[in-house]
Amino acid sequence: MESVVSSGRLRALVAAGMALTSELSLDALLQRLLEVAADLTGARYAALGVVAASGLRLEQFHTFGIDAAARAAIGAPPEGRGILGVLLHQPHPLRLGDLTADPRSVGVPPDHPPMRTFLGVPILLRGATFGNIYLTEKAGGSEFTAEDEELVTLFAAQAAVAIENARLYDAATRWSERVESLNEIGVALAAETDLETLLDLVVRRLRQLLDARFVTIVLPSGEDELRFAAGAGDGGSELVGQTMRRADSKSGRVLDSRQSERVDSVVDDPDVNYGVTRRLATRTGLWVPLIAGDRTIGVLAAHDKLGAPDARFTDDDLRLAEVFAGRAAVAVDLSERVARDTLRRVVAAQETERHRLARELHDETGQSLTSILLGLRSLEDTLTSGESRAAVASLRALTVETLRDVRRLAVELRPKALDDFGLVPALERLTELWASSTGIAVDFQASLGGADALPDETGTALYRIVQESLTNILKHAQAAHVSVVLTRKSGAVVTVIEDDGRGFDPRAASDGFGIEGMRERVALLGGRLQIESGGSTGTAIVVEVPA
Ligand SMILES: Nc1ncnc2c1ncn2[C@@H]1O[C@H](COP(=O)(O)OP(=O)(O)OP(=O)(O)O)[C@@H](O)[C@H]1O
Ligand SMILES: [Mg+2]
Repeated sequence: MESVVSSGRLRALVAAGMALTSELSLDALLQRLLEVAADLTGARYAALGVVAASGLRLEQFHTFGIDAAARAAIGAPPEGRGILGVLLHQPHPLRLGDLTADPRSVGVPPDHPPMRTFLGVPILLRGATFGNIYLTEKAGGSEFTAEDEELVTLFAAQAAVAIENARLYDAATRWSERVESLNEIGVALAAETDLETLLDLVVRRLRQLLDARFVTIVLPSGEDELRFAAGAGDGGSELVGQTMRRADSKSGRVLDSRQSERVDSVVDDPDVNYGVTRRLATRTGLWVPLIAGDRTIGVLAAHDKLGAPDARFTDDDLRLAEVFAGRAAVAVDLSERVARDTLRRVVAAQETERHRLARELHDETGQSLTSILLGLRSLEDTLTSGESRAAVASLRALTVETLRDVRRLAVELRPKALDDFGLVPALERLTELWASSTGIAVDFQASLGGADALPDETGTALYRIVQESLTNILKHAQAAHVSVVLTRKSGAVVTVIEDDGRGFDPRAASDGFGIEGMRERVALLGGRLQIESGGSTGTAIVVEVPA
């Protein structure tokens, strides 16, 4: 085709094209592009519709020549029906003298400025339509010319190159930002041992990179709750410390399935926690499990991509979140190991100290009291006055009582039976003593099948758990009957301590350390502790530890 463009306009076009290539931000570039296109053709209004990946509708609409007030009056941007739709389906230039008179027109919204003359040109990027330039209302009321059409077509080709560059630049910047963040987290991971600080860093960085409204991390808390351990962004930080039920949350499902999930509309997803979603008015979400070895230790979630149509995340976003989740998982796992290790040492030190105290009470205090007792007896024999003898006798009675207390204390601190005979005889003695001193009947049964050779740590833990349970029953339960049953099932020892007292709500907060301590001991052994209580049916504590 012979060019109809005058050399003056061609020069202007070349200059405009060069100006475009200096714009590296895509949004600024598109805006500049419209300005130039309007200028080149004398159009009063210019617009650019960016075609969605499906190719069937417009996902962005940039305008030039329409001020903010007019744009607000027009309402929602067009999606690509009518004349705009023609260009979507047939990516060729389209020139019309009166766009409203065209049979394919669907009309314009009521507050739309009048537009008649029209020139539409597609911008093709590697063979696919990136978007369309629409120009309307050529100055002076005349129609757009063939020259205008050719000029804009040439310009669209230049624009395509600039758009491609800006996109690449955008992607490159985004990736270098991502790599930088990952490095930063890697470094922090190596240096920082405080879990809270680390998780905080993970959610803050990920939020920035994804451009999400907020990002959170939940970790399991007890058997059936999840606790927000970190949060960043609008709404996310307020969630920290709050809990939700594992059963009715998306995080709970992701924790079980170990599969990431991307949800484009949370209101339509039955698994998402309704309370949290509604309170924070979330629209979309990404959920990624934190996996360390064969354990799933938490869930990372991001919500509402800012600036994206429909707030949706992309597959790239999901992959990035997965990389971050991997880092976070390592951090959580490490800090849990450190905490477990510390706890194990504390528990071991406690037992050693109790051992020492028990021995001291038994050997030293007990022996001294026994010698005093013997002394008092000889003294009593030498005295003749009935009054003095009575005084010594009452002293002796007091000493006997003290000696009994000291022995009981020593046994409580560390029963010798546990060291000498093992768990079952020690528990037998404990329950007998407890029953006779409290008057509450205890039924004790143990069938560990002759394999009473539990590791020391396990034996001590189970002994302490039964001990604390009995103390709780005396203090809180008002029970008439208690049963303690130990059984062995494949690979585990199950201990059940049951009372018929008034029960309690195990989920309610408590200032006590007893149950917390039991949980810690069981966790150290890699076991499970369950409390079944409530109403007035009493309480059952079920402990299962590997053995
Ligand atoms: N067998 C039980 N029957 C009824 N309530 C119980 C029973 N065991 C525990 N509780 C309730 O659970 C709470 C927490 O128990 P926990 O052993 O942790 O603390 P505590 O006994 O109050 O204090 P601590 O054990 O630190 O001396 C108790 O305060 C009590 O209300
Ligand atoms: Mg207690």
